[in-house]
Amino acid sequence: MMKKNILTGIKPTGTPHIGNYFGAIKPALDMMSKGDANYFLFVADYHAYTSVKDPLLFQQYVHEIAATWLACGLDPEKVTFYAQVDIPELFELNWILACNTPKGDLNRAHAYKALVQENIDQGNKDPDHGVNVGLYTYPILMAADILLFDSHFVPVGKDQIQHVEIARSIASRINNTYKKEIFVEPKEIIQEEVASVLGLDGRKMSKSYQNTIPLFLEEKKLQKLINRITTDSSGPTEPKDPDKSIIFSYYKLFASKVEAETFRKRLISGISWGEAKTVLFMAMNEKLKGPREIYFSLMNDKGKVDKLLKEGAKKARAIAKENMEKFRKNLIGY
Ligand code: ADP
Ligand code: TRP
Repeated sequence: MMKKNILTGIKPTGTPHIGNYFGAIKPALDMMSKGDANYFLFVADYHAYTSVKDPLLFQQYVHEIAATWLACGLDPEKVTFYAQVDIPELFELNWILACNTPKGDLNRAHAYKALVQENIDQGNKDPDHGVNVGLYTYPILMAADILLFDSHFVPVGKDQIQHVEIARSIASRINNTYKKEIFVEPKEIIQEEVASVLGLDGRKMSKSYQNTIPLFLEEKKLQKLINRITTDSSGPTEPKDPDKSIIFSYYKLFASKVEAETFRKRLISGISWGEAKTVLFMAMNEKLKGPREIYFSLMNDKGKVDKLLKEGAKKARAIAKENMEKFRKNLIGY
């Protein structure tokens, strides 16, 4: 049987945090190490361009995200790993898909609707205030990302389901118009059981709330950040409820079940918050120090990251070119 194609994109818009790791990076890498499919993982740099308009910052984000995935164990031999910018065929397909997408479908996209609603709520005269056309047509470029590589499955977080649905509906509309299966109709993969990691303020951890623990912080900075976590005012020997403690919630992510159980008992019998923070720091540092070293060495040798991405793009482009020729022939006759 032919292997299936599994593709996903990561938008480089800021320093990755432990929520991104447990919610997206780790589940994807686990799946790729177990499964038997053709895997494509790419940096969606042109998607970030809807908002990041500073070339230095742009490069910084791209390198951070690429170095993070590599440091966490992505094997570029097994996964086709590339950046959108290196695949010009995407932008040709983008136009073709745009010509097959009813404008109304984009009006109904959640991300766009949320911005319009924000403008309305703020009493702005123009409901489209601050919305550039790139942002509006974002789902079409995402559909091009997916359809160009004949992707069967697209692992994404819940917030991206609608985008994959749009890609699927564009594919099926074109297939119906041409009465031929030109595009693979992709399906999303949602991993239900992934952890939702809390931020330092108790809300969901997110770059937009500035409540994150960056995945790769220098040791001293990580320790400082952990020491600053707010705790209740219970005294050093008073019992502490592990299930109400953010420190315990982080510890569980980095420790084995047995270790977590031991820590739970220690909290219940009463240890100081200072000591609890030391236990957390040690566990996190132990797990992160290996990947952190790789991360910083890659960030100090950006040429290496660029080279890996270019090599991945070569593999991806060979497929992209062949598929684009096939699509072009079917759709416009040459
Ligand atoms: P952020 O909210 O920090 O901007 P993104 O929206 O860029 O993060 O998310 C990138 C990926 O990381 C998505 O797959 C998302 O589901 C996952 N993710 C982000 N924050 C968390 C979290 N706190 N817990 C679990 N997964 C998360
Ligand atoms: N829009 C996705 C996000 O914000 C990133 C992305 C771009 C993507 N193109 C994709 C994800 C194609 C899956 C497939 O997270």
